[in-house]
Amino acid sequence: MNNFDFYNPVKIAFGKGKISEINKLIPANAKILMLYGGGSIKKNGIYKQAVNALENHDFIEFSGIEPNPRYETAMKAVELVKKEKIDFLLAVGGGSVIDATKFIAAAAKYEGDDPWDILANYAKVTDALPIGTILTLPATGSEMNGNSVLTKAATKEKLAFGSPLVLPKFSILDPEVTYSLPKRQLINGVIDAYVHVIEQYLTYPVNSPVQDRFAEGILLTLIEEGKKALQNEQADYENRANIMWAATMALNGLIGVGVKTDWATHTIGHEFTALHGLDHAITLAIVLPGLLTKLKEKRSEKLLQYASRVWGIYEGSDEEKIQKAIEKTDAFFRELGAKTLLSEHEIGKETIQEIISRFENRKMAKLGMQQDVSLADVQEILESRM
Ligand code: NZQ
Ligand code: ZN
Repeated sequence: MNNFDFYNPVKIAFGKGKISEINKLIPANAKILMLYGGGSIKKNGIYKQAVNALENHDFIEFSGIEPNPRYETAMKAVELVKKEKIDFLLAVGGGSVIDATKFIAAAAKYEGDDPWDILANYAKVTDALPIGTILTLPATGSEMNGNSVLTKAATKEKLAFGSPLVLPKFSILDPEVTYSLPKRQLINGVIDAYVHVIEQYLTYPVNSPVQDRFAEGILLTLIEEGKKALQNEQADYENRANIMWAATMALNGLIGVGVKTDWATHTIGHEFTALHGLDHAITLAIVLPGLLTKLKEKRSEKLLQYASRVWGIYEGSDEEKIQKAIEKTDAFFRELGAKTLLSEHEIGKETIQEIISRFENRKMAKLGMQQDVSLADVQEILESRM
């Protein structure tokens, strides 16, 4: 196992009725900005619960954060934060609202010329406003990590940054808030969390049985609970609770310590969202089976482990087992309703060329933490997903 430091101070308040506890989690004298998205929280009662809980606090609101949040919108919130001397940010939403809030927290304290440098040029975050979150969509793990992804609408660039300074002080996870999720978003969440685990698990062995078995446990849970969620006519609390906790555990750092992580699938997937607006999870469901097929020899040891422990595949040659595991992965995404081929989204070969050029322009000749995906590989991977 590799050396690592692990630090995750995010307080999780999990369960029914927990939103009412935010008043105890935010300092009484804080001047709060509550941030949310397109208004789903007003239809499903989450807004009301939050406002009731904040009745003794001083707060104002900022709404309209888009799915795949825009830098331009976040900068409007930064202006408001400075003008109103806000000292606590409360994000109420999914990954998009939480990610935007993290960027706003860092940008409001940024001393350089242009906060876009935090995303585009790895400018160091040296200070940030404190954040709390009420998670409404289990998927990204943003509620318990220090990562954030924003899109600059002007240039269609979707870029990420990470800093321990934007780790939320607390996150409230009430599974009941997921009842109003459209099936599409619920399923997207299961797929996103699944691929988060894969990106940290399905690489190269480093003798890490604890991380591996945690990862396999999360994958098996997502398969079982994801299928149940699809079949259930009515939302079931236990099912939603298990999906919610699985998604948080998938990307809160725990399974990624000491092992070789990847993230090439995410790097490629982000380009399809930036260029064509595809849902984040769908981009992953398109790319992952192609990437695993392309890397199946290099990553054979972990793929064989995945085949047996997650999919129960014991018969056939190693090559056949690996092939079957990749097919099962694709079939799982499709069973959940994801269209996993580019042609099903009317995306043609010209987009593949455009993506390659964008990586070339950013001088990204090899992708992923393992640097084992060349641009020629990306082309082959994507052509295999037409
Ligand atoms: O805008 P609102 O009204 O909030 O509606 C949202 C949005 O339309 C809706 N929604 C959320 N909770 C709901 C609900 N509708 C009904 N009931 C509820 N309880 O769902 C839509 C999608 O929301 P969004 O926040 O965009 O989804 P998600 O949580 O999947 O976040 C996606 C973003 O997170 C980034 C993605 O790239 C994408 O930009 N990611 C962030 C990561 C991180 N911070 O660690 C890692 C991920 O890999 C990912 O890249
Ligand atoms: Zn993701």
